[in-house]
Amino acid sequence: MGCVALEHQPGQARAPQDPGRKWCDVGCGPWEWIYEDPARGSNQVPRLAGILSPFMANDAKRKGRKLLTVRDFERLARQRLSKPAYDYFRSGSEEERALARNEEAYRRWVVWYRVLVDVAERDLSTTVLGIPVATPILIAPTAYHRLAHPEGELATARAATVAGTVYVVSTLATTALEDVAQESAGPKFFQLYVHKDRGFTRELIERAESAGYDALVVTADTPLLGRRLRDERNGFCLPDGLVMSNLAHLAGPTDGSMLARYVAERHDASFTWKDLEWLKSLSHLPIVLKGIVRVDDAVRAADEGVAGVIVSNHGGRQLDSAPATLDALPGIAEALRGRCEVLMDGGIRSGADVFKALALGARAVLVGRPVLWGLAAGGEDGVVSVLRLLAEDLSKTMALAGTRTLADIERTMVALG
Ligand SMILES: Cc1cc2nc3c(=O)[nH]c(=O)nc-3n(C[C@H](O)[C@H](O)[C@H](O)COP(=O)(O)O)c2cc1C
Repeated sequence: MGCVALEHQPGQARAPQDPGRKWCDVGCGPWEWIYEDPARGSNQVPRLAGILSPFMANDAKRKGRKLLTVRDFERLARQRLSKPAYDYFRSGSEEERALARNEEAYRRWVVWYRVLVDVAERDLSTTVLGIPVATPILIAPTAYHRLAHPEGELATARAATVAGTVYVVSTLATTALEDVAQESAGPKFFQLYVHKDRGFTRELIERAESAGYDALVVTADTPLLGRRLRDERNGFCLPDGLVMSNLAHLAGPTDGSMLARYVAERHDASFTWKDLEWLKSLSHLPIVLKGIVRVDDAVRAADEGVAGVIVSNHGGRQLDSAPATLDALPGIAEALRGRCEVLMDGGIRSGADVFKALALGARAVLVGRPVLWGLAAGGEDGVVSVLRLLAEDLSKTMALAGTRTLADIERTMVALG
């Protein structure tokens, strides 16, 4: 079975609910489409075509391939992206050990499934910060979505709405946060990097609040940028025409090493717990602290009154010696015991991975790279397909494990194998 959202016959008009949009068959298989929006015009994304690899040349090789797993999407995304763009999305820091550790951790846990439970119907719905979501799989904040697809963050926002989940929009988005908010009819959080320029930080928060974001996700693990050797080797840079739209008026950096310099110069590496109070005073939005791996930090965050923490090591892109987030999760969940919500990300590639994270105490998970692969593979449809694939996979895992709802997924159901 392939991914529903991409199963369309070549030449067939797409998106009948939105006749202003035209989908083009690029002639390389029933699931391969590129998006062309005459209203916006391709001159909106000058020179962006250079980012897409010459995938047409590989048509024959890919004919008949189905997109069954996140890995399949990654393979297709890799074909469609330039090497520097793929490497930027894929890479971790330094020797990429934390990146590997994140993914490997899920393989160490097994599921002690129940039998003879009525699982004919499963319910994946839950709430995050009191907001109803259709599944516990949220979209992690990642930079530069227009590097993956011309529609960028707008496509991701529409996909999140279709999937009924939260999109956490990055400070480093290539679309202004107001435009992303307009495109989204669902819940959305704004991810904040605290800048030395307190006035600018305040401005970002005020913009997010007035644009209708539901929460602020403050990333705490990036006082400096982790060293991304692939980006340095590739001389990675944003192509002409792409900018970090939320920061546009600050002469924005465009290449990999410049990004590191930007973070070093602009991010506030002296930001501490004491400053959280100031941050909280700037808006009514609930604050979620992202990048926590230690129990004492998680407890301190709860003491400071945050609404939630995200157990995360930035997808292995910051401290390369960081622990796998799945290993950090149980202690934090145990220590917080409902004092604030515990979310987690890092290395989730299947529904079974989501199941294990929920069993170890996460209320919901976030996915970063899988969404980028979906976006690069097929824009909005690609992201919807990846989210649907993960949700269907979780639903199937729940059925096989004898769990009907997310509340049925208990700590005793997983153990180190
Ligand atoms: C290409 C890329 C860009 C990212 N950009 C940001 C960002 O702008 N802000 C942030 O807080 N985290 C960022 N992250 C980290 C993600 O939010 C998330 O923690 C991580 O991707 C989860 O791991 P996964 O990719 O294995 O799902 C980025 C991750 C990737 C892969």
